[in-house]
Amino acid sequence: MVGSANLNIMIKAARKAGRGLIKDFREVENLQVSVKGAGDFVSRADLNAEKTLKEELMGARPTYGWLAEEGGEEAGQDPTRRWIVDPLDGTTNFLHGLPHWAISIGLEHKGQIVAGVVFDPAKDEMFFAEKGAGAWMNESRLRVSGRSRMIESIFATGLPFGGRSDLPATLKDLGRLMPVCAGVRRWGSAALDLAYVAAGRYDGYWERRLNAWDLAAGLLIVKEAGGLVEPLDPAGDVLENGEIICGNEAIFSNFAKAIRG
Ligand code: IPD
Ligand code: CA
Ligand code: CA
Ligand code: CA
Repeated sequence: MVGSANLNIMIKAARKAGRGLIKDFREVENLQVSVKGAGDFVSRADLNAEKTLKEELMGARPTYGWLAEEGGEEAGQDPTRRWIVDPLDGTTNFLHGLPHWAISIGLEHKGQIVAGVVFDPAKDEMFFAEKGAGAWMNESRLRVSGRSRMIESIFATGLPFGGRSDLPATLKDLGRLMPVCAGVRRWGSAALDLAYVAAGRYDGYWERRLNAWDLAAGLLIVKEAGGLVEPLDPAGDVLENGEIICGNEAIFSNFAKAIRG
């Protein structure tokens, strides 16, 4: 697929930050780690990756706004466009030597995500999409799964850690979903959970209490792969509320019924 100039900038930035993360991952035991909150860590790897991404993305498009997990928000000269970046999604996996983490870069234009890149450097899988142009992983076009039977389907989520108040709601979801499906996975990277729905590896995914940087890129990749993406509360907004449910069209209504009750 021939992408736009912006998509190429995003892919180049993700590859560059990915090389740095791979180096840090090989020597992960030497990384300095700080605790931001219960079960919420940040390391030099997160900070270095964010610095590289900012240099690349803001260097190429200096008028755009910026929102990233570690450094926060900066308004741009152009109020209509903004980079939304998670430099390392799956920090806990990374720090435990588990090769399941990703870089997530979304581009927002007038409140809508128009391009998204989720890069998994450990597996060299580059997931990307542009609005209206489909979703891809490396050279292959992505398509959500076609499974329509709950009992054959697997779903992903994130389990609330560190005493979070949304634990009872998630346990309730699991109580309703697990008896009627083939399995639930919790792999620890929201961006990759979304990319895997787009790739048809999971049939659906839901989670609460996320941030715009976890979701921006991945939700466009799911939509462009033919999936349905909705806020968990139908009256809400996925990016504003950080609550999401998504899946292939055939499974969506039964999946949503199990989760929403
Ligand atoms: C986390 C991951 C995880 C999700 C957490 C996120 P981080 O992001 O996406 O899968 O369950 O809620 O905070 O902190 O590793 O970038
Ligand atoms: Ca984090
Ligand atoms: Ca994240
Ligand atoms: Ca992160």
